[in-house]
Amino acid sequence: MKHWIFVFACAFPVAAQLAPSDLRVEYLRDPLGVDVARPRFSFVPEDSERGAKQSAFQIVVSSGGATVWDSGKQSSDDTAQVEYAGKALESNRSYDWRVRWWDQADHPSPWAQAHFDTGLSASDWKAHWIRGANELRKEFSLDSKPVRARAFVAGIGYYELRINGRKVGDRVLDSPYTVYSKRILYSTYDVTGMLNAGPNAVSVMLGEGWFRSRAAIVQIEVEMAGGGRVTIASDATWKSAAGPILSDSIYNGETYDARKETPGWDRAGFNDAGWEPASLDDAPTGVLSSEMMPPIRVTGSIMPVKITSPKPGMWVFDFGQNFSGWVRLKVRGPAGDRVKLRHAEVLYDDGNLNVENLRGARATDVYILKGSGEELYEPRFTYHGFRYVELSGFPGTPEQDTLLARVVHSDVQPIGGFSASKTILNQIQHNILWGIESNLESIPTDCNQRDERMGWMADAHLYSETAMLNFDMAAFYNNFLRDIRDSQSDDGSVPDTVPRARFARGPADPAWGSAFPLIAWYMYERYGDRRALEENFDGIRRWTDFLTTRAHDGTVDFFKYGDWVPITRTPGPLVSTFYYYVSADITARAAEVLEKKDQAGQYRELAGQIKAAFQARFFDKENGTYGNGSQTSDILALAAGVAPRGSPTLDRLTDNIVYEHDTHLSTGIIGTKYLLPLLTRTGNAELAYELAVETSYPSWGYMVEHGATTLWELWQEKTGDSMNSHNHPMFGSIGAWFYEALAGINFDAKQPGYRRIRIQPQVVGDLKWASGTLETIRGTVSSSWSRSGDALRMEVTIPVASTAEVWIPESRLEGVTVTESGKTVWKNGQPAEGASARERGDWIVVEIGSGSYLFERSGT
Ligand code: BGC
Repeated sequence: MKHWIFVFACAFPVAAQLAPSDLRVEYLRDPLGVDVARPRFSFVPEDSERGAKQSAFQIVVSSGGATVWDSGKQSSDDTAQVEYAGKALESNRSYDWRVRWWDQADHPSPWAQAHFDTGLSASDWKAHWIRGANELRKEFSLDSKPVRARAFVAGIGYYELRINGRKVGDRVLDSPYTVYSKRILYSTYDVTGMLNAGPNAVSVMLGEGWFRSRAAIVQIEVEMAGGGRVTIASDATWKSAAGPILSDSIYNGETYDARKETPGWDRAGFNDAGWEPASLDDAPTGVLSSEMMPPIRVTGSIMPVKITSPKPGMWVFDFGQNFSGWVRLKVRGPAGDRVKLRHAEVLYDDGNLNVENLRGARATDVYILKGSGEELYEPRFTYHGFRYVELSGFPGTPEQDTLLARVVHSDVQPIGGFSASKTILNQIQHNILWGIESNLESIPTDCNQRDERMGWMADAHLYSETAMLNFDMAAFYNNFLRDIRDSQSDDGSVPDTVPRARFARGPADPAWGSAFPLIAWYMYERYGDRRALEENFDGIRRWTDFLTTRAHDGTVDFFKYGDWVPITRTPGPLVSTFYYYVSADITARAAEVLEKKDQAGQYRELAGQIKAAFQARFFDKENGTYGNGSQTSDILALAAGVAPRGSPTLDRLTDNIVYEHDTHLSTGIIGTKYLLPLLTRTGNAELAYELAVETSYPSWGYMVEHGATTLWELWQEKTGDSMNSHNHPMFGSIGAWFYEALAGINFDAKQPGYRRIRIQPQVVGDLKWASGTLETIRGTVSSSWSRSGDALRMEVTIPVASTAEVWIPESRLEGVTVTESGKTVWKNGQPAEGASARERGDWIVVEIGSGSYLFERSGT
């Protein structure tokens, strides 16, 4: 038998070249509601052989069997964001697309296939915005079962769509938070299987959401076997009733009276004679655009880890983790009993809930029983940031499964993984992941619990690179960039929060508003998304020009928050001027990429002037430091490359950290973001590592050691009636350093989107091993290393669509030898014959193509 397998394997070798994987349109897999004229296709060529390369690809798009675009065989190694260039796509249509690729020997791969659906174009919307009470319904009849049906729906604030007694899809807290006066996002659902021949019922529940009002627009487009079409559209013939939700508010929670349920209301045949007609709502001014990003979903459940009873009749459930969402209540009892659920991040010493830091948010859900046996309740139109829930008014004694926590956030795909031999780093990574996920609620929020939860722009850009390394953020941030564009004022300024919160008046602090250029640029660097630059260039340029109107002699005094929540303060104008430089620099770079020569020159010159002005105004010649000599002052000067060669500033900074602060940072959110990468780049990776693994105050480790399961807003441990959220992801900027410095996975901005990769791990401190993996837009990159004595093992995987250089540390080690899968690459201070290796500083640099590699370094 064995023999047979061997013969079989030899006679029919398994082809190394495989069909492409991970097919996406506008970054989404099999999306519905694509509403861009030229959607972009991405795929990942797969090949198990090393050094495979794509020489060509072909994409064919068809609808109803007819080809609408055939790219033909394109000689290109492009695999991401290939623009559609066929016949104009039609509104509300299903398309199939397939793709194959050729390797360097000109062999075609098998085809891979996927689908997308277009959205409903503006001229096809016939539905009206309607409002009434919390529940809306309509019955309609179909002659036969449809062959295709799509529901397009938007709510301001939230909606839940139901057809024939069932919730449609798995989105929650939809529609997203947008600049409603400019844009409202509709969702597209495939409802083909939910509709029947004969009578049907469509219904909607409404919540106030961020818009603080209740209205919805629904249009169902139905196609019959013979080609007949039926449109069901919201209008004044819909009926409305109050329903069981007595009140709902994002911050305060939901009150639900199950006695007010009207069974069957969402099915055909219900007698709605007593219901009021829905009223037509004034159409909001915002245009309807398709929701082209991962929706908010319930992504998981958590069981309580501990239940205590600090007072008679009151129980506190500990879920062991701070997160966003709500709990599902399971209860039996008499009709009219009121069960109250209060949520909090922290407890007092006596075990009672401490809700002081929620400020105005009441975070309380109330369920009033109908008394019909076992009752299950989950709120629909609120969410809380919490770890603990206080249960009161419960009939009887609760059990382990009385409450089940539901984790709720924008369902961005996890695409990364980082771990290391040092436990504290893994705990920080854990806190970062939960912190980020809890704060993706259709916009990147600052926090998830108090009466705020806004798209604070500095918070957003500070953790966006970390987010991009851990989650597939492309579609989410493309949407957020559009929100920023929708928020930009005529003078070019943008608000501190996007969408603009009531309290965020006037132009953003420069460090906040610079989220606009920064996130667009990160999209380009990490996904190679040139369109992010095209679409945002004008806005970014206007933002930079706005800062110029606030500048005097090249520096900007205007600031509001500066290096927020620091240990040592930094002059606001220094921080603002740094971001003025960043904005001008990105405007120049974007102009270069987009081949806008004149503007590239103009903004490059401006960036140079700002640098010179920064130096002239903030450099303290006597001390060799900047501004007031705070760590952040020097970090920003060094990060911007302002400090001239040979300047003592870097030494001053490391002295400040090591001697003045006993190897601690004293930075706020801004300085912290740039500190570790700066130290690493300048040969101080050991110091960066010491800061990363520090556990005494102030440090990330200090939070962990004091029970944090997400990142805090402040370095200090506080729990009082003030600003001290326990889930604020902005200090999560360190997460990018884990991947880039410790695992060593770096991109080359000249060949963005990980087309060109640099694997350069920092083998530091007492770290024994580190490991990172990242599903990039071009495929999976991974880098793991481990060491024992002078022996170092590095395992690296590079996707077909990329090339890489691998940097192996300590080229000057006594008698250093490097092998790759057993073959010598470097020996006696030089490359082995035929090996493409070279020495750069203390590193041996080896060129590789795609595939998996094992490098082993030894010394004598
Ligand atoms: C938010 C911060 C935000 C800041 C502006 C706070 O209330 O929670 O994270 O960036 O205001 O200074």
